[in-house]
Amino acid sequence: MPAKIIDGTAVARAMREELGPRIAELKARGITPGLAAVLVGDDPASHAYVRMKGRACEEAGMYSETIKLPADTPEDKLLELVDRLNADPKIHGILVQLPLPKHINTNRVLHRILPSKDVDGFHPENVGKVSIGDPTGFRPATPYGVQQLLLRSGIETKGAHAVIVGRSNIVGRPMASLLLQDGPGGNATVTVCHSRTRDLPSVTRLADILIVAIGKPKFVTGDMIRPGAVVIDVGVNRVEDPSTEKGYRLVGDVDFEAGVEVASAITPVPGGVGPMTITMLLYNTVQAASQ
Ligand code: GUN
Repeated sequence: MPAKIIDGTAVARAMREELGPRIAELKARGITPGLAAVLVGDDPASHAYVRMKGRACEEAGMYSETIKLPADTPEDKLLELVDRLNADPKIHGILVQLPLPKHINTNRVLHRILPSKDVDGFHPENVGKVSIGDPTGFRPATPYGVQQLLLRSGIETKGAHAVIVGRSNIVGRPMASLLLQDGPGGNATVTVCHSRTRDLPSVTRLADILIVAIGKPKFVTGDMIRPGAVVIDVGVNRVEDPSTEKGYRLVGDVDFEAGVEVASAITPVPGGVGPMTITMLLYNTVQAASQ
């Protein structure tokens, strides 16, 4: 029997509706949650993400500001902008879109954002809080979205073996933190795989829940999935496709056509994790405004 398709678009829509009353309540107290997104350079995928984030904020009745800077912006100019946003009372959340151009020290920029406005959850203070289960810390939007998707799809993480492929600071590591926590959506046994993992397929085949975030199109093949496993595909890769209007299409890190025949449930790309990421960013911005 083919896998159940986990509909991230539907879950994200329901969660955005649930956020409405919280935003209304803040507004009644004179606080409109505000998010600033900073984009340096002209990477087309980053532009698309930032545009979607801005639109999602406005649809939710939140304040949104997008600051676009040229690729050759000096690091100190970017740091000055972060300082200005840190001091701006209209802005509760600051997001600097990654990757940054190579001449900029990413950590220096991310560490300059006030932890209380770091809705990406990349500042070491938030990384630490999330790792010890302090709910005032901001959970990075993508793994937070994956956890909500599992919870709201009725997938039990307690006692399950979750195997994460990819150890990035944006997805893999914080995903492991969240799944390890004691509580709903946690209590999993977690394995994190990476480029040096020996015999990767033998590890991925142990997974009850397989979460893939490595940025390689169709990297996970059907034989790497244990029959009946839940597969969460975080990858969003543009592959050339002259038959489409844009000349490309989006594929995940998992070979979906093969995975759907082996897994019990699987996220599609697009329409799986992607819509959840933006929704959780809105949640974090509301959390920032509330705190
Ligand atoms: N680039 C890819 N994913 C993300 C994200 O979640 N936040 C930021 N700031 N940049 C990204």
